[in-house]
Amino acid sequence: MEFFLDTADVKLIKELNKTGLINGITTNPSLVAKSGKNFLEILKEITKIIKGPISAEVTALDTKGMIAEANKLKKISKNIVIKLPLTENGLKACKSLSKRKIKTNVTLCFSAAQALLAAKCGATYISPFVGRLDDIGENGMELIQQIKSVYSNYKNLNTKILVASVRNADHVIKSAIIGADVVTLPPDTLMELYNHPLTKKGLDAFLSDWKKTKQSIV
Ligand code: G3P
Repeated sequence: MEFFLDTADVKLIKELNKTGLINGITTNPSLVAKSGKNFLEILKEITKIIKGPISAEVTALDTKGMIAEANKLKKISKNIVIKLPLTENGLKACKSLSKRKIKTNVTLCFSAAQALLAAKCGATYISPFVGRLDDIGENGMELIQQIKSVYSNYKNLNTKILVASVRNADHVIKSAIIGADVVTLPPDTLMELYNHPLTKKGLDAFLSDWKKTKQSIV
């Protein structure tokens, strides 16, 4: 399963890329607003750091406008993936871009029916939002299981499941058990994955015992 970082914070991307765990980046208009920086500049910066897929979201609501924005975003680098909303117009744009072999990420997916439509329109990635479903009392991971089952039934559906709105380690591990292709992680959630109280406790005990031996390795 691939790990994407869900952020538009270039400094953090540079830092966390050192973990060797980052396969790609996803951004969205809210993350760009949070960064306070120019969207196109951010994307240029990210492409200097990350060679894997970088999702850049369109903001037009009409198909023609989405395609015009996609054409501009595409020029930044060949690893830019065009992020489109899961609307009728978004899926028309998806179909048209996929015919031109331009990679797409269809976002704001909240049902298996929507995921099926996106796959039929040739989406490269579908982004179901698990955290936001949990927020309204539904089960986000059930949606991932449903999409996985639907896609697995048809060999001609090649859309990858990119689990988004990930909030915790449980979302990550359940995504891996189901066999999702990608999880996109907020930086804090990625860092959380390293931690277990028994790891810290065990290391503290090892080091305290080692000290008693008065040895050093180098
Ligand atoms: O990038 C889309 C998605 O990951 C947003 O997550 O936490 O705002 O629901 P969140």
